[in-house]
Amino acid sequence: MQTIRTAKAMMAWSSAHHREGVTIGIVPTMGALHAGHRALIRAARLSCDAVVVSLFVNPAQFGPKEDFSRYPRKLKADTALCAKEGVDVLFAPPVGEIYPDGFQTTVSTVKLAHRWEGERRPGHFDGVATVVTKLLTLVRPTAAFFGQKDFQQAVLVKRLVEDLNLGARVIVSPTVREADGLALSSRNVFLTPGQRRAATVLFQALKAGRAAIRAGGRSGANIQQVMRKTLVAEPLASLDYLAVCDPDTLEPLAQIRDRAVLLGAIRIGEIRLIDNLLVTC
Ligand code: PAF
Repeated sequence: MQTIRTAKAMMAWSSAHHREGVTIGIVPTMGALHAGHRALIRAARLSCDAVVVSLFVNPAQFGPKEDFSRYPRKLKADTALCAKEGVDVLFAPPVGEIYPDGFQTTVSTVKLAHRWEGERRPGHFDGVATVVTKLLTLVRPTAAFFGQKDFQQAVLVKRLVEDLNLGARVIVSPTVREADGLALSSRNVFLTPGQRRAATVLFQALKAGRAAIRAGGRSGANIQQVMRKTLVAEPLASLDYLAVCDPDTLEPLAQIRDRAVLLGAIRIGEIRLIDNLLVTC
């Protein structure tokens, strides 16, 4: 496995591989890799000739009061995991390679970025859209792999890639969960054992919503109430939002027809957790 640190070297690698007709898969990450990332790397390995994992804690997607400086950084363990999974390139640029002096361009996905996570984290999705655009421009992948856990991000990236003709297929892989249902996240390491136990309530709430839909419930407001009831029973969790939405537009659904995505965000102490379930009727 090769580690590349500069934009120039990344573009040179990509051009050389394009000339040889090699298909390239990219797994964009912020490091602190876990089994969810491993599943994305394996999906990329299966469908592409060469796999690039980018490892970049993107300052542009963190708000001033968010956890950029505390975000876990585990370069050694991440490098070992990537090497073991047969990754071809670990692209781990310093901040100045992605945002050189004088950088002043931002990519905005107007509508999708202003609901749910975007509403609570102003500027977050501009940061995501900008860095994803840069990564896909540098690597020019055939396919880019994202996890369903960040559902809104995945919808937004699909839109972005289509709108800007970035030319990659966007593949969204299912959320990887702990045995008790907690969605894997690099931030889970910050939970105390008590908080860790309480954190499963988000998935329980989403599952209660899904069960209500499967039992014939179609009113978005009623399903939201069902999820809320489960959530508020956990004293360590404070509710940020629970929503029943159209999976393509992320607009709230008054009535569910054939598909819905249940989106949720909670806080446990200082830690903010998100999760979702896609439900087909
Ligand atoms: O999902 C993430 O880890 C990040 O938002 C991403 C896509 C790597 C962009 O920084």
